[in-house]
Amino acid sequence: MRGTRTLVLLGLGAFLGFSINFLINVAEARKPFEEEDLKAMNEALMELVKKGDELWHSPKLGNNGLTCANCHPDAANTNPHTFPKFQDNVGKVATLREMINWCIQRPLEGKALPEDSEEMKALEAYAIYMYRGYTLRPGDNTREYPPVKVESGPGYP
Ligand code: HEC
Repeated sequence: MRGTRTLVLLGLGAFLGFSINFLINVAEARKPFEEEDLKAMNEALMELVKKGDELWHSPKLGNNGLTCANCHPDAANTNPHTFPKFQDNVGKVATLREMINWCIQRPLEGKALPEDSEEMKALEAYAIYMYRGYTLRPGDNTREYPPVKVESGPGYP
């Protein structure tokens, strides 16, 4: 009897410890950032978006002089918010990165990028940033969506 009680208490203790630890972790993750932290984080993101913009307009990803922007000006018709989805061209459920590599290999006649490379992350960041504010529509093959419209400039701050 005493053994059972000890076990129950031990279990309860472990559970409480785990829960408190979990709550502390959640609180940590949600802690409000200082203004300057947010600014630095945003600058790091925009640096990646800008790198993506440069690559988007660069023929160096391929071997035939074409750039992404020739067919996708301002990232048009890349529909990043619709991934993952079944993409007919690759015949399977594809991620955005797989589809970017499809275009590098087919229309651009280039060499696929490692999916975790800085270049791939930059291209992805640019495309997604150009569609900021869109509702996620995984699997949506029903239409092409235009990027967010801006008055002038590259499409991002
Ligand atoms: C010669 C024209 C051409 C070029 C250049 C090109 N693409 Fe594409 N892209 C296409 C076509 C065609 C599709 C397939 C459209 C479809 O499936 O409806 C496509 C599809 C995509 C999609 C998926 C869109 C969707 O909704 O499924 C992404 C993302 C994409 N391209 C990114 C890129 C990137 C990044 C580059 C540059 C590395 C690039 N494309 C260069 C023609 C091009």
